[in-house]
Amino acid sequence: TAVMGVAATATMRFMFPNVLFEPPSTFKAGYPEDYAVGKVDERWKEKFRTWIVRTPEIIYALSTTCTHLGCTPNWLEAEGKFKCPCHGSGFYPTGINFEGPAPRPLERWKITLGDDGQLLVDKSKKFQQEKGEWSDPDSFVRV
Ligand code: FES
Repeated sequence: TAVMGVAATATMRFMFPNVLFEPPSTFKAGYPEDYAVGKVDERWKEKFRTWIVRTPEIIYALSTTCTHLGCTPNWLEAEGKFKCPCHGSGFYPTGINFEGPAPRPLERWKITLGDDGQLLVDKSKKFQQEKGEWSDPDSFVRV
């Protein structure tokens, strides 16, 4: 009876697996005009782990995950760089690493302009500089 009970419990457990609820991988990030030229925007850092950066030519979405061991760097406006608090890696606003142990640049997410004119960030598709993927037209929006 005990064995049957354990087997039945295991079977029921199998029927109802743990489900991990994560935030959606795609989010609307507002209009290009919402972002100041030459600024790193942190409004989506907490919720979507994303920085939006606007240059005079393009807008791109940077992952907030350090490429060393996965901590979250801080954006230091006065110094113009991202600095990871864990082991000191530094990244330029482009995402390129220049100090500390991080072996490669931050990753960028897919970003496009939706039909409604809003920026659409898709975190299911990443672009890595070291693979030459930042020239892919899906990795930035021209402004
Ligand atoms: Fe960022 Fe180590 S996790 S420097």
